[in-house]
Amino acid sequence: MQTWLVTGANGFLGSNIGAGLKGKAHLVGMARSAPASGLFDSFHQCDITDEIAVRAYLEVLNPDVVINTAAVANHEICEHQPALAHEINIGVAQSVASISKDIHARFIHISTDAVFDGGAGNYSELDDPNPFSVYGQTKLDGERAVLERNAQALITRTNFFGWSPSGSKSILEFFVHSLREGKQVKGFTDFTVTSIYAQQLVEVLWQLAYSPAFGLIHVGSSDSLSKYEFGLTVAKEFELDASLITQSLASTGNVSVRRARDLSLNTARLTEVMGFSPPTQLDGIRCAFQQEDVLAKLISGQPN
Ligand SMILES: NC(=O)c1ccc[n+]([C@@H]2O[C@H](COP(=O)([O-])OP(=O)(O)OC[C@H]3O[C@@H](n4cnc5c(N)ncnc54)[C@H](OP(=O)(O)O)[C@@H]3O)[C@@H](O)[C@H]2O)c1
Repeated sequence: MQTWLVTGANGFLGSNIGAGLKGKAHLVGMARSAPASGLFDSFHQCDITDEIAVRAYLEVLNPDVVINTAAVANHEICEHQPALAHEINIGVAQSVASISKDIHARFIHISTDAVFDGGAGNYSELDDPNPFSVYGQTKLDGERAVLERNAQALITRTNFFGWSPSGSKSILEFFVHSLREGKQVKGFTDFTVTSIYAQQLVEVLWQLAYSPAFGLIHVGSSDSLSKYEFGLTVAKEFELDASLITQSLASTGNVSVRRARDLSLNTARLTEVMGFSPPTQLDGIRCAFQQEDVLAKLISGQPN
């Protein structure tokens, strides 16, 4: 069994990797706080900005795959603390890429659709990025820093939804919990993404890790949906009241960071590498519905 080192192990994607790859690889989580759940086979607590400590640990562990999910992934935090965003999204990405190269580990770095401005949509790996936020800019600079240090790195630009440790990180959880409480919610009609269900993303990452692909690859669902359409689909599949969702415009909404409109990713390269198309968002929502009882508890560290 191969060893996977997962940074950001207590985060949304990190914990989904722990749940999704349990039993398939020897999973080692790395995070600065104690493990939030028992998802990993072993756990190393450290501040990932401490490059010497991270290098020393990785040299001894000698993992086959290193996957970097650690990030400052919140637009508002990046906007208010650009130096921190720079340190984690660029500096850490670069140092982990460099260490991975030195120890001959396969390195996968997670990036975002927010490297684009959302003016056109259906973005391929060849399209010019143009970030609209500090978050997007630091993630783009992080991609470049990774490739500068490790040309064999695989960089997945993505957007995902699912069950998170806090229960409140994802748009899926927003709609499910709000509608279950009978709350009226807004669904943006002018904000479109090709979001992929986190467990399906983990499955794609597993396949990509053992593919010869390197460089940039867009990983999303095979269809694009506005947040409003996503909400309606969630309501239908979870048998909740769709009339609680009202149409709204992100571009005029009450958000502190200006939002782009169409961040959909073209997944033709992914389809070519995997040999089949990624799932649709409906498929992901159905999967999330089926997995909720077990997975949401597992990821949030609650006993079953
Ligand atoms: N969520 C999305 O929909 C989305 C969309 C596109 C791309 N992405 C990308 O996907 C990746 C994972 O995102 P996510 O949503 O899983 O983010 P997340 O839940 O915020 O997880 C990121 C993790 O990074 C850790 N981290 C930050 N600074 C650290 C430090 N100095 N030392 C150790 N750990 C540190 C955080 O630890 P603490 O918990 O201790 O702060 C956190 O657990 C990121 O690269 C993000 O840019 C996310």
